[in-house]
Amino acid sequence: FMCTRFPSKNAFKATFYTFRVGAVGWYTVDLDLPPNKRWTALITDKKTDLANMIQAIKDLANAFVPSGRLVELVDITLPLMVETLPSPFNDEIKGIADVSGIHLGEVVLFNIFYEVFTVCTSVVNQRNDSKGKFGFCWDVKNKSWSISEKLKPLVVNLDFKRNNQTVFKSTNFAWIYTFIYFLFQHIFSLTMNERFSLDGGYIGILEWILGQRDGMWMSFLTRSVLENANSYEEAKHRLAETKMLAPAYFILGGNRTGQGCIITRSRLLSIDVLEIDVKLGRWYVLETNYDHWKEPLFLDDRRTPAMKCMNQTTQTNISLKTMYDVLSTKPVLNKLTTYTTLMQVSEGKLESYIRDCPDPCMPW
Ligand SMILES: *[C@@H]1O[C@H](CO)[C@@H](O)[C@H](O)[C@H]1NC(C)=O
Ligand SMILES: *[C@@H]1O[C@H](CO)[C@@H](O)[C@H](O)[C@H]1NC(C)=O
Ligand SMILES: *[C@@H]1O[C@H](CO)[C@@H](O)[C@H](O)[C@H]1NC(C)=O
Ligand SMILES: *[C@@H]1O[C@H](CO)[C@@H](O)[C@H](O)[C@H]1NC(C)=O
Ligand SMILES: *[C@@H]1O[C@H](CO)[C@@H](O)[C@H](O)[C@H]1NC(C)=O
Repeated sequence: FMCTRFPSKNAFKATFYTFRVGAVGWYTVDLDLPPNKRWTALITDKKTDLANMIQAIKDLANAFVPSGRLVELVDITLPLMVETLPSPFNDEIKGIADVSGIHLGEVVLFNIFYEVFTVCTSVVNQRNDSKGKFGFCWDVKNKSWSISEKLKPLVVNLDFKRNNQTVFKSTNFAWIYTFIYFLFQHIFSLTMNERFSLDGGYIGILEWILGQRDGMWMSFLTRSVLENANSYEEAKHRLAETKMLAPAYFILGGNRTGQGCIITRSRLLSIDVLEIDVKLGRWYVLETNYDHWKEPLFLDDRRTPAMKCMNQTTQTNISLKTMYDVLSTKPVLNKLTTYTTLMQVSEGKLESYIRDCPDPCMPW
């Protein structure tokens, strides 16, 4: 087993940077504008790419439910939901729908995509014959390559500003902050990973529809923490304690030695917080999509290779460049990888790279 070692950052770019030359573009989201105007510049720029991505998703949905019913359900039912979503996000959503010409229901779907996605994967997990599961996953993942290709042009860096000053930065797909990287000033960084769980998001979504609305949707919780938390501790507290609609992992980094943790969440509470503890030799924490105290699914073990590479790198030599190398090692890098983001809290740095995994490369 060989960890990837690029001799320099430029060598990395030359090898992998095939999709677009240059860095991922930056856009400003001005929080002083009325919510329905905040996304206008970005959406106007990305209109065609958005339409292409949505068509790919519709094709996928229609492949699974050929009658077109799934798409119909989204377009007819979800617009009704927009009024139940918290302010200012409901107005932002309406603004995005207006500017993009995308159906309101579809814009809503992308804002609650995290929860909807956990429903799909929990359905998959309930088919406990591993052959069926494998077949299904393979199929979904194979088909989703085409979607991950369509997502690449949508990768953007966002600079959220208030009073003309950066509040936080993020990298995501257009306005779809569901698979996200966030950097809050020089204070903390935040990433969220999907956690598979039997009670997925469907209980949460059902409760919401039935009127019990005390849980927070993923995208709104992370936005709100980024807009309002003033310290690592405060962010950690809110991410651990706020009731959510679906389980998740939060990976939080701070600006001081020892500030770094993985929060494993159920819908209701934090199940476990794993902190960096240099004295115990735990100079990093690492999360893929499995509880850290359990073995990862054998078909999807990105944890062991990533840890091997971290261990080989050693604490003294860790840097943005060596992190790059770890994240470029297959199968940590795979066909579903759309982008790699590196953040250095103390420097306020956030760098993102659109990725391509040259063959031979694992589908995930
Ligand atoms: C994955 O999808 C492509 C095109 O959709 C198809 O040609 C290929 O056979 C699929 N691979 C597997 C392993 O199913
Ligand atoms: C906002 O800040 C930029 C540079 O940081 C400056 O060029 C610009 O004039 C400022 N705009 C306002 C309205 O203060
Ligand atoms: C680190 O974060 C704290 C808040 O937790 C903040 O007060 C401090 O200014 C930050 N340090 C740097 C160097 O930005
Ligand atoms: C990496 O190092 C840690 C700490 O020494 C150890 O617990 C872990 O088993 C190592 N993992 C791998 C995959 O080498
Ligand atoms: C750490 O970096 C130094 C200087 O670049 C290099 O000589 C050394 O071999 C590296 N150590 C490891 C374990 O990679």
